[in-house]
Amino acid sequence: MAPKKEMTANKITMQSLVLCPMLVVTKDPKHASGVNIATISYVSVISELPAMIGLAVRPTRDTHRLLTTTGEFTLNLPAPDMLKALDFCGSRSGRQIDKASVLELALEDADKISTPRLENSPLVLECKVIKSLDHSRSRQATHDFFMADVLGAYHREDFRLDRQPSIVTTNFNYRLVETTLGQAFRVWKRGG
Ligand SMILES: Cc1cc2nc3c(=O)[nH]c(=O)nc-3n(C[C@H](O)[C@H](O)[C@H](O)COP(=O)(O)O)c2cc1C
Repeated sequence: MAPKKEMTANKITMQSLVLCPMLVVTKDPKHASGVNIATISYVSVISELPAMIGLAVRPTRDTHRLLTTTGEFTLNLPAPDMLKALDFCGSRSGRQIDKASVLELALEDADKISTPRLENSPLVLECKVIKSLDHSRSRQATHDFFMADVLGAYHREDFRLDRQPSIVTTNFNYRLVETTLGQAFRVWKRGG
């Protein structure tokens, strides 16, 4: 087998990982919609029980300011038909525009926090920030890390955990994952 080539660990490297971009809704009273929405793909499960989620967010994002000041957010899985909204929310800043109003995205009240959820999202987590790691200041890193408790989890009635087609990104391209290759923890035993 050919030897592996070394590459610089940077933005291009991180974008060659397979990432699952999510829509992060934060409360923003300056907009008519009352919210800001940003696309965040650096999302990590920190703990299953208690359920905890982490987000890596650049300090330049308006979402960074809103996560810091409001201390809460909803994490919305985008349905495949939300691709345009997903890309728009990741390309324009809430500092200039009210993205929810421009995109006419329907919002619904959350159960456990005061930040709304996206009505069309198949799966939503309601989260409260418990700690932020300011890597941008302490290590001159590009992103800070927000750790949050998941206070509530909700899914659309038609959501099928095992069948939901998911949008992923790799190498700056959006792709749809639809094919099940086998069940985790079982493939090694019976091949699928
Ligand atoms: C597919 C995709 C994934 C993104 N992931 C992140 C991310 O993980 N962290 C981050 O800080 N910005 C990420 N961004 C960029 C922000 O979404 C973008 O800068 C957005 O305009 C920020 O909006 P805001 O200023 O209203 O918060 C991503 C953008 C796209 C298109």
